[in-house]
Amino acid sequence: MSNTARERQLREACNPLFGTSKLKLGTFCSNLSGGCAITTLDGVLDASWGSTLSLARMADQMGFEALVPVGRWKGFGGESDFNGEGFECFTWAAGIGASTARAGVFATSHVPTIHPVMAAKQAMTIDHITNGRFALNLVTGWHKTEIEMFGAPLLEHSKRYDCAVEWLDIIKRLWVSDEPVDYEGEFYKVIGAQVRPHPVQRPHPVVMNAGGSERGRHFAAKYCDVAFVILTAYGFDDVKAQVDRYRELARREYGRDIQVWSYAYVVQGETEADARAYFDEYVHQKGDQVAVDNLTTTMGINAQTVPPEVMEAMKTHFIAGWGGFPLVGTKEQIVDGLAMLQRAGFDGILLSWARYLPDMAQFQAETFPLLVQAGLR
Ligand SMILES: Cc1cc2nc3c(=O)[nH]c(=O)nc-3n(C[C@H](O)[C@H](O)[C@H](O)COP(=O)(O)O)c2cc1C
Repeated sequence: MSNTARERQLREACNPLFGTSKLKLGTFCSNLSGGCAITTLDGVLDASWGSTLSLARMADQMGFEALVPVGRWKGFGGESDFNGEGFECFTWAAGIGASTARAGVFATSHVPTIHPVMAAKQAMTIDHITNGRFALNLVTGWHKTEIEMFGAPLLEHSKRYDCAVEWLDIIKRLWVSDEPVDYEGEFYKVIGAQVRPHPVQRPHPVVMNAGGSERGRHFAAKYCDVAFVILTAYGFDDVKAQVDRYRELARREYGRDIQVWSYAYVVQGETEADARAYFDEYVHQKGDQVAVDNLTTTMGINAQTVPPEVMEAMKTHFIAGWGGFPLVGTKEQIVDGLAMLQRAGFDGILLSWARYLPDMAQFQAETFPLLVQAGLR
């Protein structure tokens, strides 16, 4: 066996993202106020360490493979100021990593907000804290006013990915190099840089990206281990086609096998009618229209993830769970929905709930055992 193959095998042994669950699971945006629900409903997630830690521990108990925080520096206004308060992702991941035993722990990093030498060193540190359970989710940024907080303009879309290529290239070199690294690119100049010790995972920690544009999809397919599909249609054939296209892109263009994930929001009720009434309350009656308009407008202008006409139709799903796949119904229906996503080809799904703490606790108590029974876990 070659050294590289051996290293990959070792990485696969320590990071739960390479585990054997038929459908891997994670949490999404448990580090920010409101979580994924753009609503004035009482009882949504607050930005307190106690709450985010409780969610991580629940996920850890269920053996979730991915705890994915959202990198956010500024909220979206409205009555809820959706995501206006929250924890910075690397420091969050360090704390959560030290407080959990099994789950994969991600840090989401906006490329232009942090120098690659610093990002490489922080990521390496968290990989040691977690003994190889770390993953780096890199995003290029689209929430213009939060990127401007750092004193530089939001780059033009394709330049953002040019910059990300250099950023990740430097980080990957630093993670493996025994010699000091020099680098001179269009965006970065690095002189004699080192990151020692190297990360626990070899050749390097798992890297994820969720670029939605054509350029973003190529970036993820070429450079990352895990890619995310932002679904714009929810029937089985449409979902399967979107997953297949991604895998095919990575295989055909870059000769790579990558994991393909997506995300979903869970609205559970005793009956389907109960679940729909809950959905109606927090989305239709109490959805924060100002905040969702701000979010979808800025995303529509600055990203190329969702075409404008689709974005309008997706607003309801943005309010309900950041534009994720809808899992609304009884616990049995939730399990059926997840089974469908697995059959469509996803390796894993991130989940969120409106009242994150009590709703996820209900999922743990009532729904998770059914997922195990169904052989999905
Ligand atoms: C699972 C997931 C996590 C994401 N996390 C973040 C995040 O933390 N911060 C952010 O600004 N964008 C985040 N995004 C947005 C995308 O990474 C991406 O920046 C956006 O869709 C624009 O892509 P594009 O530039 O390729 O059009 C996330 C998307 C998904 C699906």
